[in-house]
Amino acid sequence: MPSSNANSKLSAPIRACTVTRDVQNFDLLIEDMELELGESWGDLTFHSALKYLDQTDARSLDFIAIAIDDEDEPNMAMIEAVIQRASSLSVRVLLIAEELSPIILHRLLRLGASDFVPYPLPEGALHDAIQRLHQPSIEAMAGATKQQRNAAAQSQNQGTVYAVHPLAGGSGATTFAVNLAWEIANSGKTAPTVCLLDFDLQTGSVSTYLDLARTEKVYELLSNTAVMDRDFFINTLQTFNEKLKVLTAAADMLPLDLITPDDIERVIQMARSNFDVVVIDMPGTVVQWTETVLNEADVYFAMMEMDMRSAQNALRLIRALKAEDLPLAKIQYVLNRSPKFTDLSGKARAKRMAEGLDIEFALMLPDGTAQVTHANDHGLPLAEIVPKNPLLKEVRKLAQSFAATARDENRAAA
Ligand SMILES: Nc1ncnc2c1ncn2[C@@H]1O[C@H](COP(=O)(O)OP(=O)(O)OP(=O)(O)O)[C@@H](O)[C@H]1O
Ligand SMILES: [Mg+2]
Repeated sequence: MPSSNANSKLSAPIRACTVTRDVQNFDLLIEDMELELGESWGDLTFHSALKYLDQTDARSLDFIAIAIDDEDEPNMAMIEAVIQRASSLSVRVLLIAEELSPIILHRLLRLGASDFVPYPLPEGALHDAIQRLHQPSIEAMAGATKQQRNAAAQSQNQGTVYAVHPLAGGSGATTFAVNLAWEIANSGKTAPTVCLLDFDLQTGSVSTYLDLARTEKVYELLSNTAVMDRDFFINTLQTFNEKLKVLTAAADMLPLDLITPDDIERVIQMARSNFDVVVIDMPGTVVQWTETVLNEADVYFAMMEMDMRSAQNALRLIRALKAEDLPLAKIQYVLNRSPKFTDLSGKARAKRMAEGLDIEFALMLPDGTAQVTHANDHGLPLAEIVPKNPLLKEVRKLAQSFAATARDENRAAA
């Protein structure tokens, strides 16, 4: 294995470095790095990486591979600093993560990591990721540096997009979308601005769950997106409790194929350039613009329950996405009404279901009892009517982390 100090390499120039708490925890990574780079790589700790990146040698690095596991959560501030420092030097960052929470992973990717590979490394995964790092991105072809790209993105104020898709009817997607949006919008004085888009064009129930009227304006907007300007868009939104902007479904049932992928893309672009966070409630069916939303989204939540229907739909969705070569990595599976901590056989079933589908549940949401339907029927987010609800507690945790990410991005932009 190469020396433990990237500076002291004598022969081969250092092209890449691993950055870890202790590289010995990731022996498969050592093997794969040797396979890909021979002797021309070094290993650094988080602390030494920060120092190394300040030296001129670091400029010639091709990439750094940051490998982390759940024990690194206390080191997160330093890891974030390494990612930011590396991307400011245009050194690409590959994340290798074992059992890291999807929230943290998402945050690290947003901070500038280019790609992510799970650990234990699947056969050939490091090789493929390195290849991907070398594929010229559109921005690179245009000659833009990372800073220029950031500046451009910030000048367009690109909000983060979270989409929610029910894998079986009634699995709780809209409840999750509505409460996530409200919790982010209501997360204090410095809360990000949030826009909730109901793209469940036919049966959309966001308006019911927030007691907002469905208006004709939405139909006008969706059928004229080519001429939509900011005012047209903002005027079509409704406001819930002064803090959350909502595009409800139209007053009449719209045929799903009336709306084209271009329409959907324009609406999302408009929303993300005017809000810090955009939450999209999707229909359970796969439509011609599902792919558009998947491409635009930062995270695409697929909601399911522990039943055969959800499992079979999940399998179909995964197959369809794989066949189309779509960005599967953005999909985060959410198990709604998941078994209680004490329900061992239920937990074992959930585990088997995930294994059977070859997925992991990024989030397990508890049953929120009849209180949830009661809140929805009253047109109120959980926080406004049942503030101690267990489902709310979980949604709030996620919302707070999303709100913090949005604040950091705003601060970086300022
Ligand atoms: N965790 C939960 N605990 C208790 N009830 C829930 C929970 N999640 C959702 N519900 C209830 O389940 C029903 C369906 O929820 P929701 O409308 O959010 O599902 P959906 O996936 O959006 O359905 P659709 O396929 O109609 O879009 C609602 O009555 C809601 O109140
Ligand atoms: Mg719904």
